[in-house]
Amino acid sequence: MTNPQYMTGFGNHFATEAVPGALPQGRNSPQKPAFGLYAEQLSGTAFTAPRHENRRSWLYRLRPSASHPAFTRYAGAERFAPGVSDAPLAPNRLRWRPLDTAHQSDWLDSLTTMLVAGDGPKTQTGVAMHLYHASKDMVRRAFVSADGEMLILPEMGALRLLTEMGRIDVAPGQVAIIPRGVRFRVELPDGTARGYVAENHGQPFRLPDLGPIGANGLANPRDFETPVAWFEDVEGDYELVQKFLGSLWTTELGRSPLDVVAWHGNLAPCRYDLSRFNTIGTVSFDHPDPSIFTVLTSPSDVPGTANVDFVIFPPRWMVAEDTFRPPWFHRNVMSECMGLIAGAYDAKADGFRPGALSLHNQMSGHGPDVASWRGASEAELKPHKIDGTMAFMIESRWVFAATDYALETSALDEDYDDVWADFPKAQLP
Ligand SMILES: [Fe+2]
Repeated sequence: MTNPQYMTGFGNHFATEAVPGALPQGRNSPQKPAFGLYAEQLSGTAFTAPRHENRRSWLYRLRPSASHPAFTRYAGAERFAPGVSDAPLAPNRLRWRPLDTAHQSDWLDSLTTMLVAGDGPKTQTGVAMHLYHASKDMVRRAFVSADGEMLILPEMGALRLLTEMGRIDVAPGQVAIIPRGVRFRVELPDGTARGYVAENHGQPFRLPDLGPIGANGLANPRDFETPVAWFEDVEGDYELVQKFLGSLWTTELGRSPLDVVAWHGNLAPCRYDLSRFNTIGTVSFDHPDPSIFTVLTSPSDVPGTANVDFVIFPPRWMVAEDTFRPPWFHRNVMSECMGLIAGAYDAKADGFRPGALSLHNQMSGHGPDVASWRGASEAELKPHKIDGTMAFMIESRWVFAATDYALETSALDEDYDDVWADFPKAQLP
């Protein structure tokens, strides 16, 4: 099998065909599409969304995706999408060590929901944080979320995402976005794989506005890569698992749903290499607000107040004068979930390893631990490069609730509060 190929640009209107002549020209739905293919529109926004927000693609496939029997409840993936209890939510800061759950599961069955923010799929708001740790390919089965787009962040091991609209290879340090409703399966080129998934129930991710930064910077549009059309012509047993309103459902298709021979439009999966992020920071003093590190944003109905922001903390030079250089102590109206893909994070001396997860909800006091505070307070302020690291944050206007699994797993760090326990008292004159 050849390696995947890509087209560049974020949200471009792409046109691609795996078989010459498969893609209609000049119209979307001809009376007789080439080769007897079926034309199908997949929309990612309401038909009437403003033009600059509007996302849809036209797919030309071997059979219509409407052709399937009824869905029944899916019994696998028991840690995926369990919902959260109605018990009062404690305002505690929480942290988890990396999960070790690779029990011969494929990617889908290994998905483990840790945190849920907002009302979720019912109101198309909020975001869920899932972890995966898989050791088998998905064979003759595919997954689709009707509940949101999936931002996939590998931490250990590469993934090959075989989607209806093409194949994407994504390795640690890269991320992939699968739009709501796009079917896919996952293979593990390295045998095992571990990482994070942020499922965005709200408006699709888009690039943030740049304001005074100008026309360039942060994540540049041409660095997003969308796969060319690819399909598999597979008949026989083939399961489709669908996430719908927070529950998992299954049906048997009798064929692969990854049968799109050609497509065009601006709703499509893509990948992005985080090392391409043009990191901007202070060249004078003070640590800027981390919004300067926003890769993608999903707006809410309040301007400037995100349903979800995807933020990274990549390698960068620290040059600020007379400045406490790591993140300061803070209490925010936004709620923050953090993960680590590689290296170390500059606000925590230890206890936060790659694969770990942390939560600081609305108005929870947090910031550097004692060792990081002491080190940064006493450091000589010469130019210093933070290197070999990639932390990320999924930030939301909605408070995150932990699932029962997340609160009960032995990976929960019971002593997390202690990282802020031993600060010396300030000494007044
Ligand atoms: Fe924070």
